[in-house]
Amino acid sequence: MIDEDGVPAERVLAELRELRALDRPTHGGRLFAYVYDPAVPGLDELAAAAHAGSAHVNGLDPTAFPSLLAMENALVGAAARLLGGGPGTTAAEVVGSITSGGTESLILAVKAARDARPELTGPRIVVPASGHAAFAKAAHLLGVTLDTVPVDPRTLRPAAADVAAAIRPETVLVACSAPSYAHGVIDPVAEIAAAAAAAGVRCHVDACFGGWTLPYLRRLGVPVPPFDFAVDGVTSISVDLHKYAYAPKGVSVLLHRDPALRAPQYFAYADWPGYTMVNPVLASTRSGGPIAAAYATLRHLGDAGYLRLAAATRDAVTALAGAVRGVDGLRLMAEPESTVVCFTATDPELDLFVLVDELTARGWHTQPQLRYADLPSSVHLTVTASVAPRVAEFGPDLTAAVAAARAAGPVRLPAELRALATALTPQALTPELVAGLAAGLGLDGGVPERMAVVNTLLDAAPPALRERLLIEFVSLLQRPRW
Ligand SMILES: Cc1ncc(COP(=O)(O)O)c(C=O)c1O
Repeated sequence: MIDEDGVPAERVLAELRELRALDRPTHGGRLFAYVYDPAVPGLDELAAAAHAGSAHVNGLDPTAFPSLLAMENALVGAAARLLGGGPGTTAAEVVGSITSGGTESLILAVKAARDARPELTGPRIVVPASGHAAFAKAAHLLGVTLDTVPVDPRTLRPAAADVAAAIRPETVLVACSAPSYAHGVIDPVAEIAAAAAAAGVRCHVDACFGGWTLPYLRRLGVPVPPFDFAVDGVTSISVDLHKYAYAPKGVSVLLHRDPALRAPQYFAYADWPGYTMVNPVLASTRSGGPIAAAYATLRHLGDAGYLRLAAATRDAVTALAGAVRGVDGLRLMAEPESTVVCFTATDPELDLFVLVDELTARGWHTQPQLRYADLPSSVHLTVTASVAPRVAEFGPDLTAAVAAARAAGPVRLPAELRALATALTPQALTPELVAGLAAGLGLDGGVPERMAVVNTLLDAAPPALRERLLIEFVSLLQRPRW
């Protein structure tokens, strides 16, 4: 990696281009997860220039780099305004922070809630089962107990009464999603926030995924229920700018209804001989690049731009959902109410994981979701504006992929693998077993092109074993190249 004399810039860039060619296509509207592409000409170049201009600026100290502070305050103001806060509203005192992403925003929402109740020895949070996994990560990292509320398998939402019943004296935060990532449905935010307020508990709305686009969909006439600071009892909201605000990766906003709610989010330390540290977020040193890129993106797209992109996305969602409805053996998990299309199979002879591979072979990159509790496995499509020009091609390819998946038949795991998946405990996994499994699944030489067998194995395993297997498989991939 470190060449004796260094490598000329052109060659380095050629190497990087070669590496990037290994990736799934971030542009072009055929990747339905991980990326958010508005397909606006010139936007990438603008964001890259803004990123480069601030890449070396350090968010560690806002007094040294007031440019970053100004950009952060502008981004927080824009998010607050979009989500029911700001002058002239009932949430006029909204404040916030810029974080590196949704996960960090959720961890900080939980930290602020935990640290607001220092008298509790066993703090807890209440989160619907459809809440993002980052809440579980936050609970794990912060020593908070996670109380999960099941979702109704028909509506894919929690019942507000169940959330209310799960609140205990040690509960520091109740969470809900607007919308959930997996299925794109909006939780009953008003009822949940009312239950939290009645118990004197904070209520966080995780709008990381769709928070930027729901207000625009509402303006377009889509029936979006109240989910933001207009709802009494909502104390904080997260919204990711690197999702539907279409900024490059590394930017989310965590908003609090007032400064007192935000105060316990900060960490300050003066009891050492170096500089006195004060951090609003998890990272200390952080690059100004993503913040400047987000600033440039928001400034350039503007309100009319976001409205136009939301309209294109809504049309794409309608067309994709129509394509799914038109295929025998598939069923939408939920009628789309935001920017997700999620479907499952109604016919046991149609294997969803084989279908995902067949779609990949046709250039459509979808996201398989494993079965969970009463919910079947499903296929998730995050839809962004760039999909709109492609949708006419999706229907015929979906039909062809379904036909191919039926012809191939469902994955039949060898009996010993199925037995392993159902009977093995995470504690019983030895390095030899993992190596044998990885080799059997074709994972020892990298990621195989067809993933149906791997997904079937994971689908058969209970969540604790899935977690362990994934850790083992990914750690096999993460080996240094000398
Ligand atoms: C609803 C929701 N919350 C939180 C997150 C976590 O965001 P990130 O991947 O930026 O950490 C996501 C990501 O998809 C999400 O959809």
